[in-house]
Amino acid sequence: MMKIMSVFGTRPEGIKMAPVVQALEQDPDIESIFVNTAQHRDMLDQVLHLFDITSDYDLNLMKEGQSLEDLTNRLIDKVSKVIEKEEPDLVLVHGDTTTTFVGAYAAYLQKVPVGHVEAGLRTHNIYSPFPEEINRQLVSKIATYHFAPTNRNKENLLRENVSGDNIQVVGNTVIDALLEISRRTSNLPNELENILATGKKTILLTMHRRENLEALQSVYRAIHRIVAANDDVQVIFPIHKNPVIREMALDEIGGNTDIYLIEPLEYEQFIHVMKNVYLIITDSGGIQEEAPGLGIPVLVARDTTERPEGVEAGTLRLVGTSEDIIVLETQRLLSNEDSYKMMSEVQNPFGQGDSANKIVAYIKRNVGQGLLVSK
Ligand code: UD1
Ligand code: UDP
Repeated sequence: MMKIMSVFGTRPEGIKMAPVVQALEQDPDIESIFVNTAQHRDMLDQVLHLFDITSDYDLNLMKEGQSLEDLTNRLIDKVSKVIEKEEPDLVLVHGDTTTTFVGAYAAYLQKVPVGHVEAGLRTHNIYSPFPEEINRQLVSKIATYHFAPTNRNKENLLRENVSGDNIQVVGNTVIDALLEISRRTSNLPNELENILATGKKTILLTMHRRENLEALQSVYRAIHRIVAANDDVQVIFPIHKNPVIREMALDEIGGNTDIYLIEPLEYEQFIHVMKNVYLIITDSGGIQEEAPGLGIPVLVARDTTERPEGVEAGTLRLVGTSEDIIVLETQRLLSNEDSYKMMSEVQNPFGQGDSANKIVAYIKRNVGQGLLVSK
């Protein structure tokens, strides 16, 4: 029986790997092992609970305010030990976090082949997003199998001399997750229902990127100006658990009755909220993939995006973090119906919701078939 080890540990990895783990677990020919690094604790636990996924190993790594260096040190040690013990046929990692890079590198050191889910996203600027762009580039060097969400992602990999034979365009597993959870009927806490029922236009805000720290103040100033200029607008801001982000948000944007600072929402509730807001302002990666399928306009408060497909689909607009531009672009969407309509067409360039099955089918056809480096 083939032994496939999935290594992940943050909220977005959890959401996007949940469908893959479910498909692996359902396959009678596969022994699925999930190594939870717990780079995130509570935010990932919520996701695992929602998808009913249990860790085979819980490395319990998160520390309050962890530095990337310390996290990397502890990860390499603990992940390596599990790989050494289990000797899997393949290690699967996802995306571009510190867990992703270190998980792949630990597997490489033991000559265990790596499959990279969500491969080939690029901004080509190693400091934006930081450190995610370098993490995913390095994993592309290490991985044997590259599961690319889109053709453009595949082209990025081909340009870096990854063999086309080892790249599969499978869509993004986030669509699998989104569709699965959307099928459930979810209830929002009353407090949140009441906010959504005020009759005001709601802007959903999320900001958590490291390279955005300095720019956050200007984004928050823009939010204050937008709320002050529009009586019929309110903001919901689920604040990431990162203490640096949290503190700054409370200092800079707290205390306004039309700006609701709330705890991170469970994924099921977050989807519900996304579907019911007027527009989203965010620096999140995953939200850029979910919103086009929901037809909710997104202003991406970053200087770069590795998801140009969403910009081309018309749902995303890359606005950077300048206060004036965010105010201008938001105001345009609030007051110009045509601009709003153009961005709110439902278009989903990221797959059909069958990505996890495609990944598992490919693994079954190829792992252990002589293509891979063996121990
Ligand atoms: C990480 C990823 C980033 C991803 C983001 C998703 C890296 C370098 N960054 O960034 O790519 O977009 O996750 O959210 O891998 N914390 C909690 N509880 C939690 C999660 C975090 O308290 O459930 C706090 C802890 O104090 C932790 C801090 O947040 O030390 C930062 O977490 P960390 O994973 O290092 O960085 P993120 O900014 O979350
Ligand atoms: N998300 C969530 N609750 C929240 C905010 C976001 O469940 O309060 C989900 C969101 O729908 C998306 C994922 O978390 O699927 C994105 O995570 P994040 O923005 O932290 O990371 P990124 O995608 O930028 O790496």
